Amino acid sequence: MTETANAAGEKPRKRLFIKTYGCQMNVYDSGRMRDLLTPLGYEPAEAPEGADLVILNTCHIREKAAEKVYSELGRLKPLKEEKAASGGAMTIAVAGCVAQAEGAEIRARAPVVDLVVGPQAYHKLPEFIANVHRGRGDALQTEFEVEDKFDALAAPARQIDGYSAFVTVQEGCDKFCTFCVVPYTRGAEWSRPVDQVTAEARALVAQGVREVTLLGQNVNAYHGAPPAGREADGAWGLGTLVRHLARIEGLARIRFTTSHPRDMDDDLIAAFADTPALMPYFHLPVQSGSDRILKAMNRKHTAAEYLAIIARLRAARPDIAISGDMIVGFPGETEADFEATMELARAVNYAACFSFKYSRRPGTPGAAMAGQVDEAVKTERLARLNALLAAQQTAFNQSMTGRRLPVLFEREGRNPGQIGGRSPYLQAVHCEGPASLIGHIAQVEVTGASQNALSARLVPGETRAA
Ligand code: 5AD
Ligand code: SF4
Repeated sequence: MTETANAAGEKPRKRLFIKTYGCQMNVYDSGRMRDLLTPLGYEPAEAPEGADLVILNTCHIREKAAEKVYSELGRLKPLKEEKAASGGAMTIAVAGCVAQAEGAEIRARAPVVDLVVGPQAYHKLPEFIANVHRGRGDALQTEFEVEDKFDALAAPARQIDGYSAFVTVQEGCDKFCTFCVVPYTRGAEWSRPVDQVTAEARALVAQGVREVTLLGQNVNAYHGAPPAGREADGAWGLGTLVRHLARIEGLARIRFTTSHPRDMDDDLIAAFADTPALMPYFHLPVQSGSDRILKAMNRKHTAAEYLAIIARLRAARPDIAISGDMIVGFPGETEADFEATMELARAVNYAACFSFKYSRRPGTPGAAMAGQVDEAVKTERLARLNALLAAQQTAFNQSMTGRRLPVLFEREGRNPGQIGGRSPYLQAVHCEGPASLIGHIAQVEVTGASQNALSARLVPGETRAA
């Protein structure tokens, strides 16, 4: 009985299921959608069965990610019919980047969908959903008003679901790498004003958050309006923003992602040396180690320039862990180009690195390029690259054995009596310990390491909840 008001006359409770695909910004957006819908009586559900509202927050970055949406919609169809048969109604919305890129196609291919809402329009979800229920309004909502969106989202208090939270500080991209859909789905680069970001971070910390990760498709291109009273500064860069946020009482850790080599500046590099709250982990995608391929990708930097940035970061913060993204099999990639990618990976020695087979995305320049690489060749190159990256990651983790590290404990572990958290280098850490440490930073000694995690024990006398 989801639609009846209870004895106290409160609003009827409705079940909301959000499924999130893709990047961390989608995770952030899903949280904000949930925040927007909570005042309307929607409560989070763990599964779509019986839900009143299902939102698929989708990703368009690679073909596989986009395809998942249609198979999920196929699974939802009988659930929607069941709900209707029992006298209820399940509203199905597709949000995110597939909504932006393929809105009309979704409507045509999947009539089960009631609403398509792009990433820059979701702040109006309550209005759009009310329209669906009234049988009015446009079911396709993909306008671009990033500024309005953040103005609308600034007001309600965030609901936290952990001790580490995302805060979007920048959206969109003007780089137009020739493989990438982001400039088309997320639009032009835009930065949130410093005061808006700070208010959101403060509100999160007031609720218990200890770590924020600043998000942006080109986060190090951040150039936000300065705080009130500091107008003369002009736009603030990311380094200045990080130092400003580091002054928030109770905020222990700051991270940011994802950066572009072209937007590196000395001030941001210096922040790694002078701001202890800025964690020593840097995600800097390179995509390829071949200058020829980098040029075809329109990356606007060479392999040597990338390596020079890594060297400057390591000079500023010698223990910094470097992570990246790589694409294999971009059109025209020869065995020699691929070997240059392997060589660059060897030179960087990544703590963690994500690798992908090039995926031909409709509408991007890469899709129309000559020299598309055979799927079998991509698979074989990816396997070779992955073997190297896995060995590097394992070696990085094993280098921690015997060391003492501060860990932010975020959850109970898989086994009873275990708790889990993250090291400064973003490694997952498992250890025996009391649940009372969750939400706190405590010192551990690393006792073992695998490719994906560290095991550790609490250091006696150092288990204070900081
Ligand atoms: N094919 C494969 N990987 C891609 N990425 C972006 N577009 C594509 C594509 N068309 C990867 C890049 C980027 C990461 C988020 O996804 O490595 O940094
Ligand atoms: Fe895509 Fe390149 Fe922009 Fe990153 S910098 S979002 S890869 S276009």
